[in-house]
Amino acid sequence: MTSAAIRQQFLDFFKEKQHTIVPSAPIVIKNDPTLLFTNAGMNQFKDYFLGNKTPAHRRVADTQKCLRVSGKHNDLEEVGVDTYHHTMFEMLGNWSFGDYFKKEAIAWSWELLTAIFKINPMQIYVTVFEGDEAEGLPFDQEAYDEWARWVAPEHILKGNKKDNFWEMGETGPCGPCSEIHMDCRSEAERSQVFGGALVNADHPQVIEIWNNVFMQFNRGKDGSLTPLPEKHVDTGMGFERLVRVLQNKTSNYDTDVFTGTLKVIGELTGKTYTATDSRQDIAFRVLSDQIRAIAFSIADGQLPSNT
Ligand code: GLY
Repeated sequence: MTSAAIRQQFLDFFKEKQHTIVPSAPIVIKNDPTLLFTNAGMNQFKDYFLGNKTPAHRRVADTQKCLRVSGKHNDLEEVGVDTYHHTMFEMLGNWSFGDYFKKEAIAWSWELLTAIFKINPMQIYVTVFEGDEAEGLPFDQEAYDEWARWVAPEHILKGNKKDNFWEMGETGPCGPCSEIHMDCRSEAERSQVFGGALVNADHPQVIEIWNNVFMQFNRGKDGSLTPLPEKHVDTGMGFERLVRVLQNKTSNYDTDVFTGTLKVIGELTGKTYTATDSRQDIAFRVLSDQIRAIAFSIADGQLPSNT
């Protein structure tokens, strides 16, 4: 399947579940002083979560251009050095604004990955929020119970506030989240070392692909958490990572999202990309990643400058 077909299949799946497909917001943010660039799919919907605006549709799906090069969500140092972080990436998202909650979000994530995309369930691990005493937040039993309908118990892991409580920035909408991780190691490796032990451990073949955030609070300037007027669903799936999984590659850069750019870089520099950890291959990956980020940022209204 091409990356374009995979993107379309995601959107079609949620369209069938009565979601309205909406366009990506620009990557450059003009009307929110708390953010410079779009760092998550939920940014353009922030006022719906906070109850400041009423959405035209309660169920929405999209693919959002995101840039993670500064602030709370910053992947810059990993880019090119590893094979699965990007400065700019596409975040596939389905959204409920005060409509469905954990039950449907979890069931549909599972259905899309296993029934539509035919991913082997034994290669999937999910995490649920373990709770946080200092914040007065309980273990997310509801998410656990919904996952337990579909997922083997040893594939449901507990995660702490760092990984399983999602916040947009220092302030703003937030809530407990459930991540979905893929174990892309070979069958032989999987039978030797339990994949659950490698989740959130920087293993290049055991990677997060999707996050389901259950928006319930607003983080105020004083650090306090206030319940939102309604409960919402914010999901974000890394498009380039999903494509890598479905195209059966071990690196995002080996998918059709990047191979064309890598080929042109090879032609322009007279060098060859060999997909290793060499400094030259890291440079190839950095160039192919960052030309995309720069092109989209300029197209969306950010002019380059020396600052
Ligand atoms: N808002 C969900 C995420 O960025 O993971």
